[in-house]
Amino acid sequence: MTLELRGITKRFGALVANDHIDLVVEPGEIHCLLGENGAGKSTLMNVLYGLYTAEEGEILLDGQVQDFAGPGDAMAAGIGMVHQHFMLIPVFTVAENVMLGHEATGFGGVLDLDRARAHVREVAGRFGFQIDPDALVGDLPVGAQQRVEIIKALSRDAKILVFDEPTAVLTPQETDELMGIMRQLRDEGTAIVFITHKLREVREVADRITVIRLGKVVGEAEATASNAELASLMVGRAVELTVQKQAPQPRDGGLVVRDLRVIDERDQIVVNDISFEVRPGEVLAIAGVQGNGQTELTEAIIGLQRRVSGSIQLDGTELVGMTVKQIIDEGVGFVPEDRKVEGLVGEFSVADNLILNRSSGAPFFTGATLRRGVLREFAEEKIAEFDIRTQGPDLAAGRLSGGNQQKVVLARELSRDLKIFVASQPTRGIDVGSIEFVHKRIIETRDAGVPVIVVSTELDEVSALADRIAVMYRGGIVGIVPGDAPREVLGLMMAGEKPSGHAAQEVPA
Ligand SMILES: Nc1ncnc2c1ncn2[C@@H]1O[C@H](COP(=O)(O)OP(=O)(O)O)[C@@H](O)[C@H]1O
Ligand SMILES: [Mg+2]
Repeated sequence: MTLELRGITKRFGALVANDHIDLVVEPGEIHCLLGENGAGKSTLMNVLYGLYTAEEGEILLDGQVQDFAGPGDAMAAGIGMVHQHFMLIPVFTVAENVMLGHEATGFGGVLDLDRARAHVREVAGRFGFQIDPDALVGDLPVGAQQRVEIIKALSRDAKILVFDEPTAVLTPQETDELMGIMRQLRDEGTAIVFITHKLREVREVADRITVIRLGKVVGEAEATASNAELASLMVGRAVELTVQKQAPQPRDGGLVVRDLRVIDERDQIVVNDISFEVRPGEVLAIAGVQGNGQTELTEAIIGLQRRVSGSIQLDGTELVGMTVKQIIDEGVGFVPEDRKVEGLVGEFSVADNLILNRSSGAPFFTGATLRRGVLREFAEEKIAEFDIRTQGPDLAAGRLSGGNQQKVVLARELSRDLKIFVASQPTRGIDVGSIEFVHKRIIETRDAGVPVIVVSTELDEVSALADRIAVMYRGGIVGIVPGDAPREVLGLMMAGEKPSGHAAQEVPA
């Protein structure tokens, strides 16, 4: 079935999330919808799926104008959607989840479990993966849960299948498997819309590419387009994609973590007796699928976790037991994963956010009195240096875009005297063009002799920055490998397998 979107316009108040978007997707092709965070990709697909009503434009299937009142109509017309955040019920089995929502189509009103089980086996057999129809979804690894989403979408006989950023939570191997499934579906004649912001994935499976920026289609490209071409289309200007760096020159000292354990508020052990070191002048990257204890580890370092045992020593000083303020004053620079919650005070100005964790002392304070002029000059300097797009230092930080908020946090943390720099997902939500800038600053920080920890779920980022890589899985460190360890090795480690063979493992002392 051919999908055609004509002039789709969707507004949220004054914001035009989709601005006269045209898109044609043919049966038997994988059509990549590429764009930065916030470009309007999900909005467009939600319009297609009947979740939003567009102000203008039309949806055509095989030339027929459609009028979807809701997802039920879209499904009935043959459109399936695999969401980024799974819409599965963890306490139900695979087959039960596949049954859900079928009242409108396919299986009829009654829960016919046997038919659902048979369907699960049929799809699994067709694509050559294993899945037990009677397993509880909550017990399955993330990659398998995604297969359940796919099986569910296929159970409605979808002719057009939309994957909205499906790889964000997958290991590289799970991603490869997914790509295999998409190719097979394409070869069977399904029209596939694959939404992503990762150039590597586009490169791998796209037959055609449509790039959208700020709600508009800005270009169409063949699968042969280079990464640089695609990146500059996405961002709207030329982009450099690689970080230049010399071999690290690590020195003694730095951060020494021993037998660190963190227990969360649900009494779960979320960081399980881990030990590692980060020396001045090196970057230790912490890789892993999101939710394997990385967040809690960085929060333990900065003092945000309460139930912590073991030891975290910075240049010989024990941090466990100190308050967040004491730890910051020790010279720990911290970029939190969620800057909206921990990194910034949205109602404060950009300038005030740039000195958020300095409450006294030179050069900004005389006694407890803030020297406004000095702060203003400093803020203007940082705004220029970090290319923070703001109307000025007095604008409330909450009104900046996500990427610019991140730059405020980075500018603040990197303009203090640091004994260690800990950055969690430093480029999440930042446009491709600014990633290189942030990476450069991180390497400069390393080269200035600061130990650096970068937590990232993006393997490209890990490989670009790391001198050594620790992979976390279920609260533990699976292994620590050199920064140039192959992607496949890291992928296996992300699924919990100990490294062997080609990547010599360093056993933490
Ligand atoms: N329900 C909503 N209400 C208001 N604004 C929204 C809503 N959904 C998305 N937006 C805004 O629309 C723009 C496009 O968002 P989205 O389609 O989610 O982008 P993408 O999927 O490309 O990252 C963003 O600026 C986003 O903040
Ligand atoms: Mg989206």
